[in-house]
Amino acid sequence: MQPEAGWFELVVTSRKAIAEQVVGLELRSACGDRLPAFDAGSHIDLETPAGVVRNYSLCNAPGEAYCYELGILLESGGRGGSRSVHEDLTVGARVRVRGPRNHFALQPAEHTVLLAGGIGITPLLAMAEQLHADGRSFELHYCVRSRGRAAFLDRLNARPYADRVHLYLDDCAADRKFDAERVLGRPSQDTQLYVCGPAGFIDYVRAAAHAQGWQDARIHFERFSADPQAACDPGGHFEVVVQGVDGVFTVAPDQSILQCLGKHGVELPMSCEQGICGTCVMRVVSGEPDHRDMFLTDSEHQSQLFTPCCSRSRSTRLVLERI
Ligand code: FES
Repeated sequence: MQPEAGWFELVVTSRKAIAEQVVGLELRSACGDRLPAFDAGSHIDLETPAGVVRNYSLCNAPGEAYCYELGILLESGGRGGSRSVHEDLTVGARVRVRGPRNHFALQPAEHTVLLAGGIGITPLLAMAEQLHADGRSFELHYCVRSRGRAAFLDRLNARPYADRVHLYLDDCAADRKFDAERVLGRPSQDTQLYVCGPAGFIDYVRAAAHAQGWQDARIHFERFSADPQAACDPGGHFEVVVQGVDGVFTVAPDQSILQCLGKHGVELPMSCEQGICGTCVMRVVSGEPDHRDMFLTDSEHQSQLFTPCCSRSRSTRLVLERI
């Protein structure tokens, strides 16, 4: 059988518990071949043993040619993707991956502020490595519930840039907690901000950054889980047309547009199915979209970009095109 386009197989060559509920995996080619190159902020799609595809950021230093390193948090709820990784991906296991791709790339800047919430440290770790290798100015702020939950702490403490890493624990004294006003105050025009973590953490940081005068164009973020509110209220039936595809497809309240199209043989790229990775993005040609994703910005929504994995329609018909 021909391998499916874009997918290839790697082997788990190392596996360690790197924090409470976080496992660190190292993936390599079975033959020791070079892997597709990546830059800081990239992720791969990984088909978990539970059969669902999840995106995981690459956290090793870009330039590493033979290995991908991941840090995977055991998430409660969901469809068991991370649980099956924790329980079944042992050393020697083979796993299908696709990518790497990057929706969270570093922009040139005089100074870069990296701000991680929990497992959101993974892409920012690769960014810190890249910025350090390039001799660029940066600081990394890492907010986490407790020291036991702080993945990659030993590695960060051992790096030559350890003095630029600031750790904030929820269970520490008040004067050592993250102070958004102090960290984000007095923004300069030449500074870029990168935030990664749970949706609530990103919303908090973005609001704090706006309050301190940061412009949207200098705030870059990547979410690690969808907003649970976004999934509720599926609404009623509506019709979908895809330009270049014959037919009008009726989307039921209990299915996504992508699920509906897939059922009719219209296969479109998808990965997270939660509106956080950007794999499925299409353009709205006509109709009124009901955006439910966490990936696109307001201005991208206004320019008619749309995520059919989770977003819906307010009009009776939505016409979409591939981009
Ligand atoms: Fe990830 Fe749609 S598949 S945003």
